[in-house]
Amino acid sequence: MSLYDRIHFKMISFVHDTLYGLFVNPYKLLNAAGLKPGQKVLEVGCGPGFFTIPAARIVGEKGRVYALDINPVAVEAVRRKIKERGLKNVEVILADASKTGLPEESIDVAFLFGVIHALNDVDAVMQEMHRVLKARGVLSIQKSWWSEKKLLDTVTKNGLFSFKEKTSGVFKFEKSQKTSA
Ligand SMILES: C[S@@+](CC[C@H](N)C(=O)[O-])C[C@H]1O[C@@H](n2cnc3c(N)ncnc32)[C@H](O)[C@@H]1O
Repeated sequence: MSLYDRIHFKMISFVHDTLYGLFVNPYKLLNAAGLKPGQKVLEVGCGPGFFTIPAARIVGEKGRVYALDINPVAVEAVRRKIKERGLKNVEVILADASKTGLPEESIDVAFLFGVIHALNDVDAVMQEMHRVLKARGVLSIQKSWWSEKKLLDTVTKNGLFSFKEKTSGVFKFEKSQKTSA
């Protein structure tokens, strides 16, 4: 990882740990994403972990959060946070979202907050989300920089997901039973 990437991450991390919380209520967005106690949840692009800790608190001891990021510095930061807080229900994964390494049909909710616009290969990530989500599992995506139309078209175009509802800027999709594009 280049020095530029490290500095960029430090800046994002600083904003998330200080200002972001003044404007964004992570619990409101995670509830909108459909998180509930006892679930297995995949957080794609966890960054410095702004949503990871609240997600772990929502799913509780019987649930599990898989916090995944492609950036080793992000993964390191989240590992530190969960250790400091003594959280046992978070697993941090250093991987590309198109190859999570998680078992098939093992996840209740996968959420992508502030991430979709940054993905190199959105279609490959959608295929992977479809693979890891349980039947009728939920994919929740924060609109981010994309237009609503672009988001809906991109996620539903291969028939892998159907749009269910939008709450607090979070779009919820349900996994369809179709297995190939
Ligand atoms: C703007 S940050 C958002 C962080 C966090 N979700 C939030 O909203 O606070 C985007 C994150 O997505 C990660 N990312 C981008 N492409 C990825 C990919 N293909 N697989 C996994 N993570 C990815 C980046 O490394 C970065 O940490």
